[in-house]
Amino acid sequence: MDRLDKILVSQGLGSRKEVQKLIKSGVVCVNGKVCKKGDIKLDAETADISVNGQALNFQKHIYIMMNKPAGVVSATSDNHDKTVIDIIPDEFKRKGLFPAGRLDKDTEGLLIITDDGDFAHKMLSPKKHVPKKYIAELDGEITDDTVRRFNDGIVFADGTKCLPASLEVASENDKKTAIVTICEGKFHQVKKMFICCGLNVVHLKRISIGSLYLDGNLPIGCCKLLTNLDKESVFIGDMH
Ligand code: URA
Repeated sequence: MDRLDKILVSQGLGSRKEVQKLIKSGVVCVNGKVCKKGDIKLDAETADISVNGQALNFQKHIYIMMNKPAGVVSATSDNHDKTVIDIIPDEFKRKGLFPAGRLDKDTEGLLIITDDGDFAHKMLSPKKHVPKKYIAELDGEITDDTVRRFNDGIVFADGTKCLPASLEVASENDKKTAIVTICEGKFHQVKKMFICCGLNVVHLKRISIGSLYLDGNLPIGCCKLLTNLDKESVFIGDMH
């Protein structure tokens, strides 16, 4: 059982304060009757809650798309740096949130933050081979040999073998910008793959996970909720 105000906050209806105002204004109904008490306890999964006449479709878990900025770490807490959890807007904040996968501190782009461990486990499982696409800016030009080595599967200096990856140049005029797709998630993988080919990544941004693309209208450092369709699209798609 949870407090009504807490349930509404968890569903993205506003901050605790905003939700309390909403309840006081008399637009929230519980089991058909106006309810002006934020502290009544309800079973969120069975209670019939409506706001402004619209039934609340309770979602047990939350799935957030973040356009991660450089300079924050993909962790739940850190002694030195700001974390991705620290920069989530209040209306999306709830207990148990964590980043589903990691981007390096200096990497930008698509990050999913959730409180659904099963979803994250499925997305990150090496067996699922969920493709992740990155735009990498490099300090030198990509050659046909780089592309071939990525396609064959890079082997790191310590013998670690990477799965075949797709590598394309952004355009014939810009061979220093690459679109890379990998379907695993070794530590610093993209940077290390390029280092093996004599190139350094100077900027890295993730643009997709499966068929879920970073929303081009989402400013750096901002978040939005994923729809059920968005969520499913993570598990659709192949390497290319
Ligand atoms: N590969 C990297 O090297 N860094 C990232 O943040 C993600 C993939």
